[in-house]
Amino acid sequence: MTARRTPPRLASLSPAAREAAARARRALGDTRAVPNVAWIAALTGANRREIGAVLEELEALLPVEEEIRHRHLSAGRDSYAQIRAPFDLFAIVRLLRPEHIVEAGVSSGVSSAHFLAALRRNKRGRLHSIDLPLRQKGARLDRGESSVALPPGRETGWAVPERLRDRWDLRLGRSEELLPALAAELDGIGVFLHDDLHTPAHLSFELETIRPHLRAGSVVLADNTVWTGEAFPRFARSLGARLVRRGRSDLVGLRLPDRPPAL
Ligand SMILES: C[S@@+](CC[C@H](N)C(=O)[O-])C[C@H]1O[C@@H](n2cnc3c(N)ncnc32)[C@H](O)[C@@H]1O
Repeated sequence: MTARRTPPRLASLSPAAREAAARARRALGDTRAVPNVAWIAALTGANRREIGAVLEELEALLPVEEEIRHRHLSAGRDSYAQIRAPFDLFAIVRLLRPEHIVEAGVSSGVSSAHFLAALRRNKRGRLHSIDLPLRQKGARLDRGESSVALPPGRETGWAVPERLRDRWDLRLGRSEELLPALAAELDGIGVFLHDDLHTPAHLSFELETIRPHLRAGSVVLADNTVWTGEAFPRFARSLGARLVRRGRSDLVGLRLPDRPPAL
């Protein structure tokens, strides 16, 4: 029998944190969802003990993870193009305790559910999500259709457990139309996640729209940047912020310096 090896990204955490993360990953049913401690540390400034302490909380989240998995399976989806770092999102929000999180791109709501679970534990803050629903055409997902399409009878955020929704402001429509007004309503954006239309022009539009609403220490994340060219690196350079890649993936982030240049 071969011994199970601890993923290197978790090696320096307490056994309780490692075990909680492993159990949460199994409950969610996503083998990719191994928290990346170095990425979380670079984006939050937290040390390994602090990160370990919030990852230990995943133990209490197991019923949420099981419910998300059950909701996916009951609609015939065991996976789709959801965020590969749900526990990292949870940890970032627990550690930074933002008042406002904005995300573009929800689909079934894996990222949303983990943001909301962290806000619930923080006992403060709201998640503002924008999503343009894309509907599956028939009873089964066709080969040519995107796996993010909503199964028949399901609406945006369909995998998010009811008990997490009280801090959720979900807006349906194009981010091009909704994001400017949403950003203007908020007194600063603490965390932003781009996970909707992955084109350079669209990512640049979202980043320029939120730019005036970022504050010292805000975190900006973008997934699937392999498709968005220079948009994120250029934005990071303009802010004087370090672009932090999650491992070798194309999920990237930055944290605004404590004294940002003029936005
Ligand atoms: C990859 S999925 C989001 C996955 C989600 N973040 C998660 O972790 O589960 C992308 C979503 O963005 C939506 N979308 C695509 N273009 C959009 C646009 N212009 N404005 C808002 N939402 C859009 C898609 O319909 C889809 O629901």
